[in-house]
Amino acid sequence: MKAVAVRPPHKNSVHLTELPMPKVSDIADGRGVLVKVLKVGVDATDREINEGLYGNAPQGYDFLVIGHECFGQVVEVGSAVTKVKPGDYVSCTVRRPGGSIFDKIGRNDVTSELTYYERGINLRHGYLTEYFVDDMEYVVRIPEGMKHLGVLAEPSSVVAKGIEQALLAQQRLQVWQPEIAFVLGSGQIGLLATLMFRLRGMQVFTFARQKAEGNLKAEIATGYGATYCGAQDGQTPKSVVAELKRDPDIIFEATGSARQAFEAMEYLGLNGALIWSSVTGGDAKLDNIPANKINLEWVLGNKLLVGTVNGNWKHFEQGIAAMALGELMFPGVTEKILTHPLPGLESYAQMMHLLETGECLKVFINVADE
Ligand code: BGC
Ligand code: ZN
Repeated sequence: MKAVAVRPPHKNSVHLTELPMPKVSDIADGRGVLVKVLKVGVDATDREINEGLYGNAPQGYDFLVIGHECFGQVVEVGSAVTKVKPGDYVSCTVRRPGGSIFDKIGRNDVTSELTYYERGINLRHGYLTEYFVDDMEYVVRIPEGMKHLGVLAEPSSVVAKGIEQALLAQQRLQVWQPEIAFVLGSGQIGLLATLMFRLRGMQVFTFARQKAEGNLKAEIATGYGATYCGAQDGQTPKSVVAELKRDPDIIFEATGSARQAFEAMEYLGLNGALIWSSVTGGDAKLDNIPANKINLEWVLGNKLLVGTVNGNWKHFEQGIAAMALGELMFPGVTEKILTHPLPGLESYAQMMHLLETGECLKVFINVADE
């Protein structure tokens, strides 16, 4: 069967390759779930892997099949599988366990080992192929009524985990009730964070570069009942803080820019939580960060910074549940994220090209029909 692969660490090596058809019996103890891939979303991670910035082929291969955001339909299950059955719609998590205590208790998303195994990213083949098989632990059911958003299950899990981690850590404060949230970035992660904060009743400001007028991202943020703030319209986190005369209680940073991540430390409120989710490559240094002032304010203000990456099956379920509630509260808004569908695995070159423009909200491949 066909698969889209790269040859790390070579640059621009994306190509079509062949993989053997997987079988339910490839997974031990009757725990296998064989899935037909219907849609796969791609993001900046896939672009950076193709740029040779990271990613490694699985042992014994000189290529890595990419794609870590999948939506598919169960074809066959092993004898021990009860949680899904043939015909069910599913997504599948990205990380696979290493050897740490966290990996052993099902928390590979917070592994304490430096090497991590991720389908489509590092040392494990991904989902840009026709079928895959995996252990039932990693397969997450998508309700039939949510199949139109199934390809967003993985990005939604990343956001759900970030917010969950911040809220868990904030229990240190006993009575903390966040009212104002800033979301930095209006890519898929920023928009889904906007949704999830709105579902918690917060007043949300979503920041991005582009003007609001005629801008789909602004339309989506506004559709969720948030305020969209474009730097090109002169609206920045600092200008909104000045207008509100108060700092935000919680900030979700998803711009991909380390400068913005650090600058966010300047305007987080007392007792607040700052969530960092950008995976920033390169080794740029920053000037003009008022380090003493930030240090002092963070100490006197009991502020929290939480870094977050990846999501396990529990976060996939939280993400899917949030999108489902979102459909009831803000009908039809989330599907506007799905801007750039492409037909079939053969469109891999166009897929990479669209990612490289950096201008598409969401590129995804329709791998097969049901
Ligand atoms: C993926 C995460 C992954 C991270 C680091 C992101 O693009 O969505 O699941 O953990 O990259 O590789
Ligand atoms: Zn990703």
